[in-house]
Amino acid sequence: MSRESEQTQGAAEASEDALESWEDGPAFGVSEDKDPVCEVHVEEWIEGIDITSTADVPIPEKLVDQVIGQEAASIVVRKAAEQRRHVIMVGEPGTGKSMLARSMTEFLPREQLEDILVFRNHEDENEPKVRTVPAGRGSRIISERKAQIRLQRERTNRTLLFVALVIGAALLLATISSGEILTFIFGSFILVFGYFFLRTRLTAGDDANIPKLLIKHEREDEPPFVDATGTLAGALLGDVRHDPFQSGADLATPAHERVEPGAVHRANKGVLYIDEIRMLRMEEQQALLVAMQEKELSISGRSERSSGALTKSEPVPTDFILIAAGNLDSVQNMHPALRSRIRGYGYEVYVNTDMRDTERNRRRLIRFIAQEVRNEFKKGSGKPIPHFDRSSISLILKEAQRRSGRRGKLSLRLRELGGLVRIAGDLAAEEGAELTRAEHVTRARMIAKPLEQQVADRHLERQAEYAMLVNRGNRVGRVNGLAVLGADSGLSDYSGVVL
Ligand SMILES: Nc1ncnc2c1ncn2[C@@H]1O[C@H](COP(=O)(O)OP(=O)(O)OP(=O)(O)O)[C@@H](O)[C@H]1O
Ligand SMILES: [Mg+2]
Repeated sequence: MSRESEQTQGAAEASEDALESWEDGPAFGVSEDKDPVCEVHVEEWIEGIDITSTADVPIPEKLVDQVIGQEAASIVVRKAAEQRRHVIMVGEPGTGKSMLARSMTEFLPREQLEDILVFRNHEDENEPKVRTVPAGRGSRIISERKAQIRLQRERTNRTLLFVALVIGAALLLATISSGEILTFIFGSFILVFGYFFLRTRLTAGDDANIPKLLIKHEREDEPPFVDATGTLAGALLGDVRHDPFQSGADLATPAHERVEPGAVHRANKGVLYIDEIRMLRMEEQQALLVAMQEKELSISGRSERSSGALTKSEPVPTDFILIAAGNLDSVQNMHPALRSRIRGYGYEVYVNTDMRDTERNRRRLIRFIAQEVRNEFKKGSGKPIPHFDRSSISLILKEAQRRSGRRGKLSLRLRELGGLVRIAGDLAAEEGAELTRAEHVTRARMIAKPLEQQVADRHLERQAEYAMLVNRGNRVGRVNGLAVLGADSGLSDYSGVVL
């Protein structure tokens, strides 16, 4: 009994502590948000916060800890990374799917990274050989190989030159003894010609023995994150470039040099992210499935009429974790076998569109503003935007409440909210203001209206001219009809507009 009460006390203390600090703690292990919904109005609440602007807010280093309001999805991402499982991520645009996918590489081991080399195959030119070496070794192998060839070439040249000199000397002796100058001229002409001919002959083509570094990493590189959204088949699955000289022996570029890796190969030992996977053709989804099952895929020419179509490399490793994102529709239209593969060997997550309006989440949103300001700063182009003061923070928080469309919730459509942050920041930067203030956010809201809302506004304006409707003050009368103009039903952003 006493232990129980101790525990509850401990829990209460812990939650109080969490509210006091900016630390979220680790992103994982957070199960259910039990905090009470904050009933205090944002303007009032912000007065009790221990910062003067977003500049005072510490930002976690890891990307996964910067993701806000997607605890369940964060857990899945980490689990999937640990266990090497594929993930389907479904949710509204701009709620952090790409961000979560990108953060996954932070959990993947770096030691497993591999360099991949393609070699000429002397037995069958059209089936280049593929070798895998630990990360960082690839470039060394190539430079060693190049040095070796240079050495060999120098040696050949030296021998050749020596032979030419000996023959030249013999020729000279013969000329001196016989006195026939014409033989000498003629002989040395043939000698010089023969020397250069042999030299090019003997050294030509040895370049073709240098392997091509298909996938290159440094030892300390992070595991790759490859976004293959909307790529063509060649870019996704690899391709063999067309050779304009076709089979013209000497002129032709050797097949192994024309092999190009696809996203599936570049994502080896990392994450392959594909948004709107149903946009891929069925054959491509099929090939993707093969790559996932076999963990390797040969590279062959993708355009049928090119000479590249003859070539097919040995299998190249494709040991990636697939993250397929999109809306529900796009998942339902995906290749059934592919979907089933992911369901059977991975996770499906639905990311949140809103979160509860608690103190902790309000603080997280403030951190979000700080993150966006810092991202703009790190971008390095354009003017950086000033940090947000309390008045502007409170407006952004109110906007998040409003955009959620429900009481006691905060919107997680953070890309759009970030848009408002950026426009307000731009306005402040233009003025040279030190901090972004409430007036900037108010003005930004006018500018940041979605197109649909701008159309609706125009419509309202015109209707007002004919005095068909009342949008100011109040009047006693009869309502003949009601209509709701919304920018987006999911956004329920402007559903307050009533005609
Ligand atoms: N949950 C979140 N936490 C913090 N920032 C977020 C979150 N969601 C979105 N953002 C911000 O919005 C930007 C866009 O988010 P992201 O690209 O991850 O969205 P998405 O879900 O992949 O959208 P889409 O479906 O359009 O691809 C991020 O770079 C980040 O700045
Ligand atoms: Mg995305």
